[in-house]
Amino acid sequence: MKKYLLDLRVVAVEHINEKYVLIRLTDDKPLPEMMPGQFVEVRVDGSEKTFLRRPISIHYVNRNANELWLLVAAIGDGTRRMAQLKEGELVNILLPLGNGFTVTADNAGAKHLLVGGGVGVAPLLYAGEVLKANGIEPVFLLGARSAKDLLELDKFRAVGRVYITTEDGTEGEKGFVTNHSIWGEETFQMVSVCGPKPMMVAVAKLSREKGMPCEVSLENMMACGLGACLCCVEDTKDGNVCVCKEGPVFNIDRLNW
Ligand code: FES
Repeated sequence: MKKYLLDLRVVAVEHINEKYVLIRLTDDKPLPEMMPGQFVEVRVDGSEKTFLRRPISIHYVNRNANELWLLVAAIGDGTRRMAQLKEGELVNILLPLGNGFTVTADNAGAKHLLVGGGVGVAPLLYAGEVLKANGIEPVFLLGARSAKDLLELDKFRAVGRVYITTEDGTEGEKGFVTNHSIWGEETFQMVSVCGPKPMMVAVAKLSREKGMPCEVSLENMMACGLGACLCCVEDTKDGNVCVCKEGPVFNIDRLNW
């Protein structure tokens, strides 16, 4: 897929809570084609400690408004600077990078489970919308520590069914995503997961036990995003591969998990 280096204009930065922001960006020309699960590399200007671009997943592409949305956890110098962006500022972005989630199915009426935890929910919104457009029912299973940590529920609910687990039981079923009752009630053509590695490993194991195909979006450390610096290497059944180029989405059968 062709890559672009664009100066996108900030439409708005919405502060979702004290940690997360939703950054909406646009361009005068139509935004390039992007697949759910792909990511962008953002150049962070005005941060003395951030020399490398920040890899951020594509949260949503609003074609009607010609907007790219990024859901960002402002936890480091670079991402904190991104959270301070102002309407009208230009942001230099390399996109789209990597591969994407499976968004097609062989059989009509298929259902696809999208499992997310923490900021790992970010790529699932666009994935859900594209699945739905392709005639596949997206079902979201979102996990968080507590109700206050759940992000963008209204937007997910506008796309498909949403199931929730919280570790403290303040919303949805109490426990981890792998404890949710939906695993015993429904079968899915594919399970796609993004979140902390222990969560992805647990979901991969459970999907295998249930006989459901599963793919995960790896969040290895990244710098160049183009397969040049080798800092994102993952040991797979095919040897070492660059997550930024051959991933970030991998079928679990390819991983040594
Ligand atoms: Fe540089 Fe993957 S981030 S090779």
